[in-house]
Amino acid sequence: MSDSFGCVVLAAGKGTRLKLKDPKPLVPLMGRRLVDYSIESLKKFMDANSSKGAVSLVIGHEKEKVQAHAEESAKKFDVQISFSVQEKQLGTAHALKCYFEQNSDAAGYEYTVIMCADTPLISSDVLIELFSALKKDSLDGVAATFETVDPTGLGRIIRSDKEGFKITEHKDANSEELLIKEVNSGMYIVKTSYILEHLSNIKSENAAGEFYLTDLFQEGSKVKPCLFEDENTFLGVNDLEQLERIEVLLRRRKKIELRNSGVRFIDSRHVYVDEDVQIGEGSTLYPNATLYGNSIIGKDCVLETGVIIKNSEVQDGTTIKAYSSLEESFVGKEAAIGPYARLRPKANIGSYSKIGNFVEIKKSDLKEGVKVSHLSYVGDAEIGEDSNIGCGFITCNYDGAKKHKTIIGKGCFIGSDSQMIAPVTLGDECYVASGSTINQDIPSGGFGIARGRQSTKEGMAKRFIKKK
Ligand code: UD1
Ligand code: MG
Repeated sequence: MSDSFGCVVLAAGKGTRLKLKDPKPLVPLMGRRLVDYSIESLKKFMDANSSKGAVSLVIGHEKEKVQAHAEESAKKFDVQISFSVQEKQLGTAHALKCYFEQNSDAAGYEYTVIMCADTPLISSDVLIELFSALKKDSLDGVAATFETVDPTGLGRIIRSDKEGFKITEHKDANSEELLIKEVNSGMYIVKTSYILEHLSNIKSENAAGEFYLTDLFQEGSKVKPCLFEDENTFLGVNDLEQLERIEVLLRRRKKIELRNSGVRFIDSRHVYVDEDVQIGEGSTLYPNATLYGNSIIGKDCVLETGVIIKNSEVQDGTTIKAYSSLEESFVGKEAAIGPYARLRPKANIGSYSKIGNFVEIKKSDLKEGVKVSHLSYVGDAEIGEDSNIGCGFITCNYDGAKKHKTIIGKGCFIGSDSQMIAPVTLGDECYVASGSTINQDIPSGGFGIARGRQSTKEGMAKRFIKKK
């Protein structure tokens, strides 16, 4: 039978030092929220053990907001989630007590995995390694530890010649203990039966007057520290400097993953890619390409310098040229967008299309092979296959109160400097003369012209040309 895990994330604290408006578990990071990283790692850890289990958050500060987000996150990562409330933050052991008191399933899991919500670099691999250390020596509990040059504020690992070890908090450490560089990460895997036996004996007689979870680990018990080499793994988000450092490391990790899967960076130091962005093999990213949220980029795409893509999809073989911005948009395959194009939400650009410089498109469907090559605004429109829109085209979609639609059929040719006063519909293969302001429908095959007739007066120019 596979092992079962109750996974607890301690997330009741306030995170005051961050000075951000969001509660700490909801700090935005890489297009996600901080707590999502712990939820994802725990889910992957359980999957790796093909085990039954659930994630449970201990919440307190701004609990409604944290719970609402974590419920969404659990759906995304397909994991069962529950919550317990710690009204007053009386310490980490008290937080765990709240978990056991408020979750009827908690005592039934063979092991309890405990981590904090603010250590996003802890991957499932670290959890797997920690668990195998416990299994190897048939222990009751393990704590992940690391060595650091500056252990200020962290719990010191007091190893013993006999079985067991203990952790002394910085505030309680004597001068000798303060010199110890091996510290507690705050991540533990412990047999649930062991916790239930010892948790209620933990007292708050210490410098902080808090119930320390670290007091679970005692000399004479079957518990061990498990030393990890890379201290960065356990970096926690406590202030803005740490948050920035962690973000740099997470971004680097994401780019390594992408490079390993065949994405080329011209200079990856200046490319920003959020955690959940997908990019296909053979695509190339130039400096300052920035990809946010749930964007999906196909294979063999080129994203040139300064491109910004938010929650959009770009299909195989498409080039997004320099300084173009896409938001909640879709671009089909082998299209060319930009330079300096702006696709606003619900711009839907068909395959083989061409959108050129200084073109803005909003809430419009452009079918395959449409060309809007220069200086245009397309809003609330539908444009049929292979239509060509000349330079300086404008859909006049807004009458001051409502938005109206412009519909242009297949294979049309719209001359430069034309405006469509919506609502207006053009059939297939229409031709609109340059400089026309169209406010009436044109049937398929029709020609539309709406501009003042030209008159030419020979020799009259000198009346108007001014000389200094
Ligand atoms: C804790 C450890 C310390 C370790 C350090 C690593 C204890 C006593 N000490 O200290 O050995 O080196 O983490 O970062 O555990 N929380 C609650 N309820 C509470 C208190 C805390 O939910 O009543 C949550 C916090 O939101 C946070 C986590 O538990 O996510 C850790 O709490 P924190 O106050 O940061 O503990 P440290 O003093 O850093
Ligand atoms: Mg801390």
